[in-house]
Amino acid sequence: MRSWRAADRIPFMKSTTAATTHPMSTRTHLARTGYLLRPPQVIASPETRLEYRIDRMLGEGGFGQAYLATRLGRSRVVPTIVCIKVSGRIDGWLREAYFGQLLDGHPRAIRVFDAFPLMGGDGHVLYCLALEYARQGDLQAFLHRTGKGWPESTARREIAGILQVLGKLHRGQMLHRDLTPMNVFVCERRNLKLGDFGIVRHQSDRGGTRAGTMNPLTAPSEFLAGAAPKWQARDDVYQVGQLLGMLVKGDARARIRTSEIRRLPCSDHLKEIVYRCIGERRKRYESAHELIEALSNPPALLRVGVLRTLEGAHLAFTGILNRRRPEAARAARRAGAIVHRSPSARTNVVVRGRPNPLQAAGRDAGLKLMEIKRLREKGHRITLLNETQFWRLAGRDAVKRTASRAASTRGGEIAVRKNKEST
Ligand SMILES: Nc1ncnc2c1ncn2[C@@H]1O[C@H](COP(=O)(O)OP(=O)(O)OP(=O)(O)O)[C@@H](O)[C@H]1O
Ligand SMILES: [Mg+2]
Repeated sequence: MRSWRAADRIPFMKSTTAATTHPMSTRTHLARTGYLLRPPQVIASPETRLEYRIDRMLGEGGFGQAYLATRLGRSRVVPTIVCIKVSGRIDGWLREAYFGQLLDGHPRAIRVFDAFPLMGGDGHVLYCLALEYARQGDLQAFLHRTGKGWPESTARREIAGILQVLGKLHRGQMLHRDLTPMNVFVCERRNLKLGDFGIVRHQSDRGGTRAGTMNPLTAPSEFLAGAAPKWQARDDVYQVGQLLGMLVKGDARARIRTSEIRRLPCSDHLKEIVYRCIGERRKRYESAHELIEALSNPPALLRVGVLRTLEGAHLAFTGILNRRRPEAARAARRAGAIVHRSPSARTNVVVRGRPNPLQAAGRDAGLKLMEIKRLREKGHRITLLNETQFWRLAGRDAVKRTASRAASTRGGEIAVRKNKEST
């Protein structure tokens, strides 16, 4: 066997390109690392006693290199064609082998059939994994090849599958941290499976883990700006939101921006879900479970409610009103309301005008409406009013009526007190 040289150094940020699937970039990488295995080399696993013939290189990433290989000899477990991943580093290999066992048999996780070290002639060790081979390659390469977005129903179903694996990790306090379109694989019948558990981390509490290695293609922007010190389950959710947006768009070469969500070719409900995944960090779904719930439940309805007075209400406006906003705000204050610029946990009344055509994620999902829905999910009570209802409560006559009602109530209270004093 030829001696080999381990990859020089794992960079802090991995390359954002589909480098590993494109010959030019592969050559550039290889100039640095060299081939770790050479077709038609045969390697043997002391673990399963199987042999694998290396057929061709599939690509190279932060972990090492991946090769297409044929299993030699007989096995009832290992298929004839496998992907051999090989690395000079033990840490990622250990994790991938461990998660292979943990997720063994999960229909949405790339299977790990074999894990073994290979001694090089010069005393160095190569760490190998025999993985389930995804015929259609990774999602980025697949979308690049086909150039078409997936129908929404397929995208939802497949992402729900990936979320099953992620949910299992999250329940065990583990964070994947590398849900890039290069680590999601397209298998038979366009089934998506999650692969590459090389940088999964355990968190000792829900505070998250320090973010080290990450791929800038789908790393949340807060991390690229250096603002969020710890990776949390909601950051995995961000990455799944990116995958969802990329799938319906049919392009995984660049990250989905929040400004393009309203133009994605899908329902408003899905746009809203993508927005909640990749928008402001503190408003994201907090775990795979929350995202699964959002995908499987119909969109929240925004029905208008009933209110008798604005007195003491904490009120915010959204949408296009017939009268000017400052005028409406003055009327609300006159009627005894406290006006908020945007909804917060203290807001209990929201006046909704006509939808703005440029709303972030569709007709029922401007930023403020999405926040109302989120707050309601957390248990806050918020009454929604339309503009007519608002003016009925805030018009001058209504204010006069409220004032005289308040005065008569006060008068009544004084009379009762006087009566009590005289008896
Ligand atoms: N099980 C698999 N089936 C088919 N192709 C695979 C499989 N595993 C990896 N590949 C391909 O091999 C190449 C290298 O994969 P690898 O996971 O090492 O790197 P990467 O995903 O590009 O980068 P990263 O280190 O960020 O995960 C990729 O192009 C990937 O699509
Ligand atoms: Mg990978």
